[in-house]
Amino acid sequence: MTKNITFLGIETSCDETAAAVIRENDKGTADILSNIVSSQFSEHERFGGVVPELAARAHLENIEYIINRALEKSRTSLSQIDGIAATAGPGLVVCLTIGLNFGKSIAKFSNKPFMGVNHLEGHALSVGLQTKIKFPYLLLLISGGHTQFLIVEEVNKYKQLGTTIDDALGEAFDKTAKMLDLGYPGGPNVEKFSNFGDKHFFKLPEPIINKAGCNLSFAGLKTAVLRESKKINGDQKMKYNLAASFQNTVNKILYKKTKIAIEMFKEKTKSKNPKLVVAGGVAANKSIRKNLFNLSKEIKFETVYPDAKFCGDNAAMIAWAGIKRFNRKLSNNANISARSRWPLDEKAPYLKGPGLKL
Ligand code: KG4
Ligand code: ZN
Repeated sequence: MTKNITFLGIETSCDETAAAVIRENDKGTADILSNIVSSQFSEHERFGGVVPELAARAHLENIEYIINRALEKSRTSLSQIDGIAATAGPGLVVCLTIGLNFGKSIAKFSNKPFMGVNHLEGHALSVGLQTKIKFPYLLLLISGGHTQFLIVEEVNKYKQLGTTIDDALGEAFDKTAKMLDLGYPGGPNVEKFSNFGDKHFFKLPEPIINKAGCNLSFAGLKTAVLRESKKINGDQKMKYNLAASFQNTVNKILYKKTKIAIEMFKEKTKSKNPKLVVAGGVAANKSIRKNLFNLSKEIKFETVYPDAKFCGDNAAMIAWAGIKRFNRKLSNNANISARSRWPLDEKAPYLKGPGLKL
C-alpha cells in the first residue's frame, strides 16, 4: 500500500492569509487536518476593495502565526509533512511573494519538496477534497478575478472553452454592492439583500448572451446597475430590487452560457454523462447553485459543488493541488517566482481589451 501523502498549503494571493494541513485518505479524498483562513475584511472595508500594500502588510504580520496555528491544529509536526505547497500566481505579486517565500524557506530548512501552485488549479481541483471525481469534467470557475469555462482533462491539463471578455463575475458582484452601498465584501451582501427585492423590477442587459459561444461579459451589466443606482436616490426598497434584478440577470446569463458550455464539453470529450463543477468564491452563491441545478435537470448533467468553505480562497485547495502534482511527479518547482498572470490553459486566446471582435 502506498503512503497517504500529507502537505502543508499556504495561500496569500489576495486578501486572505491562509494555511492548511491536508492528508490524502483511503477514499481518494482528503482529511482536512486544519484549514485556517484569516480574512482582511476590516483592513479593506473602508476602501470598498483590496488595497495591495495594506494586504501585503497584513500578510506579513499574520503569516507566521497562521502557519503555526495550522500545524498546531493539525497535530502534525513538520517532520510528518511530505511537502509544502504555496500559491505562486495569479494574484498580487506583493502578496504572493510573502506566502511563496515562507513556503520555500520552510521547505528548504526542513529539506522537503516544494510546489509552487497555480491558484486557479487550486480552485479547479478543490472539489476533490470532499468528492472523488473522475476526469474529465467541465469547470465553471467564478471568482473575484476570473470567470471561465474549462475542461479539466487531468491535473495540469486544462482546455479553456470560454472566458469573460471584460469583468470577472465576482468583480461585478463587488461593484454592484459598492454602488448600492451594501457593504464589503460585496458578493455575499448582494446575495443576501437580493432576497428582499423584486427580481423583475429592473430590466438589465444580458451582454453577448446570444453570441460568442460560452464567452461572457459583465461590464455592460455593471454600467446599467450604476445608471439605475443613480436614479433611485438611496431608496432602500429600490436597492433591494436592483440587487435582486442583478442576481436574476446573472442567473439568466449563466444558465444560457452553461448550456452552451455543456454542449461543447459533450462534443469535445464525447462524454455521455457530463459533470459540471462550479468553483471559486462566487460558487458559494446559493441562487447560482439552484439555478444551475435546475439547468442540470433540464438538459441532464451532474452538478458538483465544493462546500462553501472551499469555494472562497483557502489553503486546503492549495495543499490538495500540491499533493496531486506531487503524486504525478509534476515539477518540484522550488525556484518559481510569483506570477501576476498565469492562465490554466496557456494556449487559450487572450480575449480582453479594445478592438475585440466577437
Ligand atoms: O475565489 P475568491 O475567494 O477569490 C479570488 O480568487 O478572486 O473569490 C472572491 C469573490 C469576491 O468577488 C466575492 O464577492 C465573491 O467571490 N463571493 C460571492 C459570494 N461569496 C463570495 N459572490 C456572490 N455571492 C456570494 N455568496
Ligand atoms: Zn480564488
